[in-house]
Amino acid sequence: MSDNLPEVREGILPVNGYRLYWKSVGDSGRKGTVLALHGGPGATHDYLLSLNDLAEHGYRVVYYDQLGCGRSDLARRTTEYTVERDVADLEAVRTGLRLDQVHLFGSSYGGMLAIAYALAHPEGLRSLISASGLADVPLTVREMQRLKRELPPPIRDTLERYEARGEFQNPEYLTAVMEFYRRHVCRLDPWPTELAYSLDHMSRPKYGTMNGPNEFTIIGTIKDWNDTPRLGEIRVPTLVTAGRYDEITPAVAESIHQGIRGSHYELFTESSHTAFWEERVRYLQVLRDFLDRNP
Ligand code: ALA
Repeated sequence: MSDNLPEVREGILPVNGYRLYWKSVGDSGRKGTVLALHGGPGATHDYLLSLNDLAEHGYRVVYYDQLGCGRSDLARRTTEYTVERDVADLEAVRTGLRLDQVHLFGSSYGGMLAIAYALAHPEGLRSLISASGLADVPLTVREMQRLKRELPPPIRDTLERYEARGEFQNPEYLTAVMEFYRRHVCRLDPWPTELAYSLDHMSRPKYGTMNGPNEFTIIGTIKDWNDTPRLGEIRVPTLVTAGRYDEITPAVAESIHQGIRGSHYELFTESSHTAFWEERVRYLQVLRDFLDRNP
């Protein structure tokens, strides 16, 4: 690393009646700007901060906390937590921060949001990166149920027992949930502090409304979302990544890859849902190669 640390700026942007927190890492971005979208829906940008590595290679990386998340405002009503609203906010952030065309990086729900944005605002994009993202929530749910069935029987039985009673906050249930997360969300031990922070600060109003009680119980408002039939409309250069052990399984990533003509698919064989931490060096290399090929 050079002596010149990347420039870091942060601020609050008025967006569609609320105040959203943003952070920019890197200088003006000689090679372009990567705009990073966190998942959840309801997490915070912190768990994406390994992307700061890109700032050492000529890219500016911009993060923000979506409405209801992290250091940004909560919505006044939970009915305001919608994908359409997040798309509109994303466009307002891009134009409000004068980012011009961006490389849009979306992790998990952020990938779903990035795809929805690409369909609505292709003019805003240089490229699209779906990092363990999804377009088809029903397929994702079926795949997650398969992963649950493949857990060791005692863990599976505990999950089923408390789910039948609707006791999603029981400590024994939460311990079993963590067993799933250690296999399919992040396989590092310990977890990066940034990831632990984002999970510990998950927005209950937003996550509860749009996702559900935990990662593999998607019963919120996104449960029927499926953009797969429209993926053929996406014409920007696209990178699709997934981990072999990903909670959003390789089958989900392959469905995106097959839908977007000319997209590049990269499977990270030592990773689950956070390959940009679990295989940080290789992930950065793959991402840089893609970005450099699509200036
Ligand atoms: N809950 C999934 C995510 O991490 C969809 O965004």
